[in-house]
Amino acid sequence: MVKAVAIITVSDTCYKDHSKDTSGPKLAEFAREMFPEANIHTLIIPDEKELIERELRDYCDSNTDLVLTTGGTGLAYRDVTPEATKAVIQKEVPAISIAIATESLKKTPMAMLSRSVAGVRDKTLIINFPGSKKAVIECFEVVRPVISHAISLLQNDTQEVRSIHDSLQFGHTCTHHSNVDISKVALRPRVSPYPMVEMSEAWRIIDEVMGKWPEHFEIVPLDQCLGRVVAQPLTAMEPMPPFNASVKDGYACMSLDGAGVRRVRTSLMAGDPPTTPLMPGECARINTGAPLPAGADCVVQVEDTKLVSASDDGKVELEVEILVAPKKHQDVRLIGSDIPMGTVLVKKGDILDAPQMGMIAGAGFQNVTIRGNPKVAILSTGNELQEPSEKKLRPAHIRDSNKTMLKILLREHGFETIDCGIVRDSPEQLVAAISEALRRADVLVCTGGVSMGERDLLKPVLLKDFGATLHFGRLQMKPGKPTTFATCLYEGKTKYIFGLPGNPVSAYVCCLLVVVRALRVCGGRAAPRRRRRGRACACAPARRCRSTRGPSTRAPRCASPPPATTCPPRTSSAASAAADC
Ligand SMILES: *[C@@H]1O[C@H](CO)[C@@H](O)[C@H](O)[C@H]1NC(C)=O
Ligand SMILES: *[C@@H]1O[C@H](CO)[C@@H](O)[C@H](O)[C@H]1NC(C)=O
Ligand SMILES: *[C@@H]1O[C@H](CO)[C@@H](O)[C@H](O)[C@H]1NC(C)=O
Ligand SMILES: *[C@@H]1O[C@H](CO)[C@@H](O)[C@H](O)[C@H]1NC(C)=O
Repeated sequence: MVKAVAIITVSDTCYKDHSKDTSGPKLAEFAREMFPEANIHTLIIPDEKELIERELRDYCDSNTDLVLTTGGTGLAYRDVTPEATKAVIQKEVPAISIAIATESLKKTPMAMLSRSVAGVRDKTLIINFPGSKKAVIECFEVVRPVISHAISLLQNDTQEVRSIHDSLQFGHTCTHHSNVDISKVALRPRVSPYPMVEMSEAWRIIDEVMGKWPEHFEIVPLDQCLGRVVAQPLTAMEPMPPFNASVKDGYACMSLDGAGVRRVRTSLMAGDPPTTPLMPGECARINTGAPLPAGADCVVQVEDTKLVSASDDGKVELEVEILVAPKKHQDVRLIGSDIPMGTVLVKKGDILDAPQMGMIAGAGFQNVTIRGNPKVAILSTGNELQEPSEKKLRPAHIRDSNKTMLKILLREHGFETIDCGIVRDSPEQLVAAISEALRRADVLVCTGGVSMGERDLLKPVLLKDFGATLHFGRLQMKPGKPTTFATCLYEGKTKYIFGLPGNPVSAYVCCLLVVVRALRVCGGRAAPRRRRRGRACACAPARRCRSTRGPSTRAPRCASPPPATTCPPRTSSAASAAADC
């Protein structure tokens, strides 16, 4: 299959004024007719031997299947195309030139002065054509019947060679085809064709589209549940505390005994099993957290007692005086007083934090059923980018910082990501990389390639090669205008694709505003509220919050007068509402 064709016009005149080039466009037209699937590259260069050689070599090295040149084949001093071609090819194919010459001679004896060369370098076929449009038309007709066949002969076994080559060079096997034609740089739109979308509208779209994400559950060990959304409620199967426990260091007594002297029957530390029941007039020395003996219903703190008698060696207390008459249940945590059995510990939709996770552990649960997060892949695009792990920076390259930044940003918000590497700005490679990413993930976050440059290919590739639906392609915000959101069906599943601008600041801001929101919505969490800078008013003399009704994305606004002094009750929703102001 012919994937790439290059048309090089060699002419000082056309180089100065591209509009004078008529033979190049004619050849491009022929090539496009013959190979509608191929990318057609066109180029105009002056009659400089070294330059011609370099361009020919570059095209051959980048696996171009066919290079057609026009111009520079005559006898003028600067005509050097055949010489440059000979310097590049490894095998000459003289009969092509002979056929061209024979045919041309029928039209004009001047054809004797044309020195066209044809030959092969690696897997690339190169053919020189004369410079005039008329000659190009006549000569192309001569070679037309053999071009395809010649290329497929050259391509014998190349598929494998090529994909090995590509995978070594770019990390992606590239047997992919793209419907995006990048040859017509001059025809690209100069104004973005995508309508500008307001931020509030963009959020509405995200909430709606991501809201359809199919809910699924995961059973996960408790310590991996931080920040995750509970999918099934947990109910306490045991009371907390599981026994009557002392709150103080002191003496467990019977409240009916009142004040006065007691015999110290025994002593109990935390963790000791309960002893035989107390009798009236007895008490038990007890530490915080220890179980009360049966019969005891209160604890008297050690400060409210006096030693009356002890063993001679001072090791055992025999009698103490209770100075203050105790009340029933004084300083006792009764069974189930913290968490009665059957209490709902966490409910569906709760987002787990440290205290809740401690409580769940305390109640004996090891795993929690939580909502599954989507799998997220990150892909960077740009010919200039190198993995940060590569030691040596190649010329005109930079290390990709975006992927690392986005990965950590998403992790900060509780989402792990899959690194899909760096892809070069070519439609075929983009198709390959996106396919691979969509195979591995539900959501793809790309940076770069969304703006107005001729190599900004993400949108065209998504639309033409993946049949994607573009939900928005431009946002009413700066930075981040070209931020893109699309969905497509891939292997029967809906996939969500976010294109962020390549500028690291834009990428950060847009990831936070757009991607994090989207992931939260499909993870079953409310969209993040907008944070306001300034002081929080959770529990200080504070401004009064007034919620402005409207799109749910708006954070409540603070009205300016500050007289409110009451604290909102410490429920989580009130606390978070307060925190917004
Ligand atoms: C491709 O090359 C192999 C030898 O490497 C040869 O046996 C085979 O016939 C060739 N195929 C075509 C279509 O020319
Ligand atoms: C716990 O204390 C309560 C109230 O004093 C009492 O009714 C109950 O029997 C005690 N339970 C145990 C196991 O001692
Ligand atoms: C819960 O966690 C334990 C320990 O990690 C594991 O052995 C068990 O299989 C898990 N139970 C379920 C239902 O996943
Ligand atoms: C960020 O990514 C974009 C696109 O991938 C790229 O153009 C830009 O150079 C990157 N910047 C850095 C600092 O990595």
